[in-house]
Amino acid sequence: MTPRPSDTELDTAVRALRAGRLVAFPTETVYGLGADASNPDAVSRVFAVKGRPTSHPLIVHLASAAAMPAWADPVPEAAQRLAERFWPGPLTIVLRRGSRTPLAVTGGHDTVALRVPAHPVALALLERFGGGLAAPSANRFGSVSPTTAQHVRDDLGTDVDVVLDGGACAVGVESTIVDLSGDAPVLLRPGGVTREDLESVLGCALSQGGARTVAAPGQHPSHYAPHAQVRLVPVPEVANEVRALLAQGQRVGVWAPADVPAAELAGAVVRTLPATLDEQAHELYEVLRAFDRDGCTTIVACLPPEHGLGLALADRLRKAAGPRPA
Ligand code: TXA
Ligand code: MG
Repeated sequence: MTPRPSDTELDTAVRALRAGRLVAFPTETVYGLGADASNPDAVSRVFAVKGRPTSHPLIVHLASAAAMPAWADPVPEAAQRLAERFWPGPLTIVLRRGSRTPLAVTGGHDTVALRVPAHPVALALLERFGGGLAAPSANRFGSVSPTTAQHVRDDLGTDVDVVLDGGACAVGVESTIVDLSGDAPVLLRPGGVTREDLESVLGCALSQGGARTVAAPGQHPSHYAPHAQVRLVPVPEVANEVRALLAQGQRVGVWAPADVPAAELAGAVVRTLPATLDEQAHELYEVLRAFDRDGCTTIVACLPPEHGLGLALADRLRKAAGPRPA
């Protein structure tokens, strides 16, 4: 059964937040490391615990779209439309910062990222708390996002004051980020809401990335990386690649498409790739962490087709396989 924090646990969490402490909580995407977004000291603790540069902005989580004007100004009509269609849900909307929004939470930027998460525990916490919660993914900077309460405890240990357990995150990859602060909407990060769905509600094509996004930490190529090296190979080459790595003495984890015969992967740690993109996203970070726990030195995986949720999956796999800082 899915764990669900009691009312007493939620009240304890709210008291901790009001006192400027940190509370990890489940969302439908990944676990967040929450702090009172209106308290610059609490927000600076988030940066310290994550080991994240303070110029990298945080997402402010809200109980409902009605709170948008308290944080952003103006709230364009397109933002209202997206909120109506996709909130609560895995979509983050970047708008111009409102005058009362602390610069600590926006990393000094003139824009603010807002999201209403679709998880009963996150919503219960936000409703009881009453304000906005600044929350990055509850992992150390640069490592794989947590999708269970145990992942959070493994990563952050006693640095987090309260961990609310709401079970495994349903979506499993971070929210889609769309920037509506400029003249035309820009897709900053693919995620749980697909580009196709956004474009149909906005009624226009989304451009991707761009010069304005260089400060976004999700753009750093080494993001979302497990300890093991990740190699992305086409399906027909999986068995040969695994054999070659094993011959070099590597301990190999393989997220293997079901049509690669198990006999061809003998000697490797094998996890079978689920059939649907939804299931693949749901499992991605747990699979990467499991290979790390198993002591794998290299992980072999394949890129999904890049439409729908496949765009977000491919993005995270490429980042996991990207160059690492020295
Ligand atoms: O699914 C999610 O979005 C999760 C859950 C906890 O809500 N949160 C999450 O937060 O992934 P984080 O901090 O790991 O990633 C947030 C991304 C960063 O790449 C950050 O640069 C970008 O959002 N971001 C935040 N504010 C921004 C802004 N004002 N302009 C551009 N990008 C922004
Ligand atoms: Mg993150």
